[in-house]
Amino acid sequence: MNSPKDVLRKNLKMVHGYPIVYSFANNWEKIEQFESRPDDIVIATYPKAGTTWVSEIVDMILNDGDVEKCKRDFITAKVPMLEMVLPGLRTSGLEQLEKNPSPRLVKTHLPVDLLPKSFWKNNCKIIYTARNAKDVAVSYYHFDLMNNLQPLPGSWEEYLEKFITGNVAYGSWFNHVKSWWKKKGEHPILFLHYEDMKENPKQEIKKIFQFLEKNLNDEILDKIIHHTSFEMMKENPLVNYTHLPSTVMDHSKSSFMRKGVAGDWKNYFTVAQNEKFDTIYKKEMSGTSLQFRTEI
Ligand code: PPS
Repeated sequence: MNSPKDVLRKNLKMVHGYPIVYSFANNWEKIEQFESRPDDIVIATYPKAGTTWVSEIVDMILNDGDVEKCKRDFITAKVPMLEMVLPGLRTSGLEQLEKNPSPRLVKTHLPVDLLPKSFWKNNCKIIYTARNAKDVAVSYYHFDLMNNLQPLPGSWEEYLEKFITGNVAYGSWFNHVKSWWKKKGEHPILFLHYEDMKENPKQEIKKIFQFLEKNLNDEILDKIIHHTSFEMMKENPLVNYTHLPSTVMDHSKSSFMRKGVAGDWKNYFTVAQNEKFDTIYKKEMSGTSLQFRTEI
């Protein structure tokens, strides 16, 4: 597996019971054995929940709102994705993390069960961002159209079925959000909601400041809100993923920075799909206190 061609549009591969992107699933021992540093900050999400947004916010916070410092590199280098492997193209997430100075920012979509043990042992701070399932499904569908590391999504109807049954990379959205929500009872996890960040970015960014024990300053806060707005990030080539080769992410199929709103699902779900989804949702989420808003 030395060439990117070997990993494009492959079926997902099971890793400890979870479907994982084919090119990430090899040499999993290296991920399991990853040695964290106690001051690592983990940015964890189910895919398409606002990872890139929170990553840029945290980088801005650590750099006291200095936009020039935040332009030092691409988001994929500043906030490497732990499990990312792209043969023949660029360094893996693990290699990039080795190079980065502390405090490192670590992006991951891993479910609680698959997070390397070292993060728990070192009591690393984790920021988990969750987004309502319907908007995630729509965003993930478009992502799978443009991201050639993922299997082709099929029609929207077919994709929604796969999403509901957890037959997509990282498995079931329900399992992911519920288990991270539960985990916050026993570990320093700041649990954020995409919809809250859209509605009131100031309030949510303040929570991140406090969690990271950084001094709040209104001028810096305003700069961060501006620099990390959807409109700014969509046009920023360092964070909008246009730097990756089109063989990997084909922006002619769909943009990475697509719409950036809450409630876009209404443009995709039919009435029947919505009714079915709501029934399954109610059952899956019955045992948890975790709640979501599907519009704001
Ligand atoms: S990934 O591939 O899982 O890391 O993607 P992720 O960054 O988690 O999610 C991508 C979606 O987040 C939207 N996005 C934003 N929304 C609001 N504000 C900002 N600044 C922002 N940056 C990214 C992005 O547009 C994707 O959502 P959709 O609904 O597809 O537009």
